[in-house]
Amino acid sequence: MNIKLKCVSCGKEYDAFKIRYKCECDGTLDVIHDIEALRKLNLKKVFDERWGTREKPYDSGVWRYKELIFPVENEYIVSKPEGNTNLYDAGRAGRYAGLEHFLLKHEGENPTCSFKDRGMTCGITAARKMGAKLVACASTGNTSASMAAYAASAGMVGVIFIPEGKIAFGKLTQALAYGGKTLQINGDFDDAMDLVQEVCNTLNIYLLNSINPFRIEGQKAIVFEILQQLDWEVPDWFILPGGNLGNNTALSKGLMELLELGIIDKIPRIAVIQASGANPLYKMWKNKAPYERVRNAETIATAIKIGNPVSWEKSMRGISWSGGYVEQVTDQEIMDAKAWVDGAGIGAEPASCATVAGAKKLVEAGVMDPGEKVVGILTGHLLKDPDATVNYHKSNLTDRDIVSNFANAPIQIEPTLDAVREHISSLIQ
Ligand code: F0G
Repeated sequence: MNIKLKCVSCGKEYDAFKIRYKCECDGTLDVIHDIEALRKLNLKKVFDERWGTREKPYDSGVWRYKELIFPVENEYIVSKPEGNTNLYDAGRAGRYAGLEHFLLKHEGENPTCSFKDRGMTCGITAARKMGAKLVACASTGNTSASMAAYAASAGMVGVIFIPEGKIAFGKLTQALAYGGKTLQINGDFDDAMDLVQEVCNTLNIYLLNSINPFRIEGQKAIVFEILQQLDWEVPDWFILPGGNLGNNTALSKGLMELLELGIIDKIPRIAVIQASGANPLYKMWKNKAPYERVRNAETIATAIKIGNPVSWEKSMRGISWSGGYVEQVTDQEIMDAKAWVDGAGIGAEPASCATVAGAKKLVEAGVMDPGEKVVGILTGHLLKDPDATVNYHKSNLTDRDIVSNFANAPIQIEPTLDAVREHISSLIQ
């Protein structure tokens, strides 16, 4: 099966199996599939027949869609297997957002507890196919956790560039534990991203950030899996957080291909939510202005603390194509929404909860209708960032001007029945 790389800016094409992350003109690259050939395969039937299979690699929620993701020989595939995550009814988080039909796809249920595993299985497989032994990424935490785990599985060494002191504890724990060579740089994610590109280009290391087009291909599996869970019925909206902007790029690219193949016949709207302190896409979209990086990005949602996203051009292409929307939310809105996502028994890390905060804002603004069918993506697990959660519930975020409106603080008591009775009497009938 034929695939090639194509520049998003100038259209120049390249061999997909020669290592390259950007065009000569500096544009980002897409993997282009042979849609005519794929049309003959009746892929919807193929995908549905693989649902629930134990056969490898098709038991993975990424490789189930292999033909439309990365038609590579199975011997190269490194899978854990990822995907097959739950699509929850948002419950009380849905009522908080003001939506009647709100589903949450929990990508924190992946092997390393974030959506990154879907792109990473594909990226590491590409690394193996290209003969790489060393792989690298810059990360706000989740990419590094995922890359370290997949590199370990593949017998490769992963070199990680992270902004010192600025990644959540759960993610640093994973990077170290999985054996990633972890370089903490004195700078932010954007500095780390600039550095890792220079390092990979000069030192012959395979780059596994989402600027690598194979990462985007794997991430498309989120939308394929959601639609399959919905029996291929397209919702009105998808809503998700935006940082480096790979995930929403993958979402729109996957939808475009499903439409071209006739597997779906409707285009849903895509809403991308950024943190107000890390909002280059929002500014560009809102002001119809040229792209401009945000310096010194800041938000409690460290996963999306990114001022210079690599995929802004591809992201904008998908949002425009879908008649979508870009919104920003404050840290206060993110943490309050998180209390509702967590309190619904679902739980997610702060960046993920920008999804629900954004949905609430779009409903209140009349952009989203309360009766519309909306699917939100929760990108990372609750336990990725225990500090943010505990500090919120203990009202310890005042230095960030965050009020703990929905705190569930622990209560210190004496070890006596009376003390217990006093504190839980209102719960006992
Ligand atoms: N949510 C979480 C939990 C993330 O880790 C990220 C990105 C995003 C949302 C944003 O997704 O970049 O595709 O727009 N984290 C990256 C990392 C950048 O290094 O782990 P995006």
